[in-house]
Amino acid sequence: MKATINGIQLAYTDEGRGTPIVFLHAFPLNRTMWEPQVRALSGQFRVITVDLRGHGESDAQLWNFPLSLYADDVHGLLDHLKIARAVLVGLSMGGYVLFAFYRQYPQQAQALILADTRAQADTEEGREGRRIMAQAALAQGHAPVTDTMLPKLLSQESRDGRPELVARVTGMITSTPISGIIVDCMAMADRPDFVPLLTEIACPTLVVVGDKDQATPPADARTIAEGIKGAKLETIAGAAHLSNLEQPEAFNRAVADFVGSLK
Ligand code: MLT
Repeated sequence: MKATINGIQLAYTDEGRGTPIVFLHAFPLNRTMWEPQVRALSGQFRVITVDLRGHGESDAQLWNFPLSLYADDVHGLLDHLKIARAVLVGLSMGGYVLFAFYRQYPQQAQALILADTRAQADTEEGREGRRIMAQAALAQGHAPVTDTMLPKLLSQESRDGRPELVARVTGMITSTPISGIIVDCMAMADRPDFVPLLTEIACPTLVVVGDKDQATPPADARTIAEGIKGAKLETIAGAAHLSNLEQPEAFNRAVADFVGSLK
């Protein structure tokens, strides 16, 4: 399905009934990374996935859009779907968007699930990496992006032994418009430090991290969990950065138990 939000077409799926859970994907992927969650959770909850601007089947304009606009898009989609409050799940870049969302629309967050993400802004070295990736994507297309991102997204075990998963993640990367990749790089490089926001987060929060996540390691998850009053931390064994795809059953259980426990 598609909706016109903030002047662009956003693609989304909306399945099931019950408490709405909105899933925000990682860089440089799309909403199909949540297929195991849609399959497992839509029998119990209303599961919404969205292609953030620049990804999947959503429009991909080339401009220096801030992450706060990605958050405005999510807010616009919730309004379009007439959802006043939802549980919001963001993995990695999706988590950055979620922090931006909470800062602008805290009343719409029934609860947060922050997975394999970090609250800190990029370091200068991190920003330089974004500049290099944007230039490489512009000059050479998806190959350098795939080469850089696959080892960050998937564990060595998955890269060696799960060719279907590698093909699936590669397919998501190569189907992301180059303009979307470049805009993400600029938006992530410019995102603010969300650490000061942590103490303001007042809704129930679950922090999830793969024990082998090197892109946003368990120490980053602890920073988030210790900063948000009452937050729970769930470590997923045997998962790297894409914990929802590498260990879907453990991830789904953590989400279902958390959302099921909300009043
Ligand atoms: C992601 O998975 O969204 C990225 O690793 C985020 C980032 O590059 O900071």
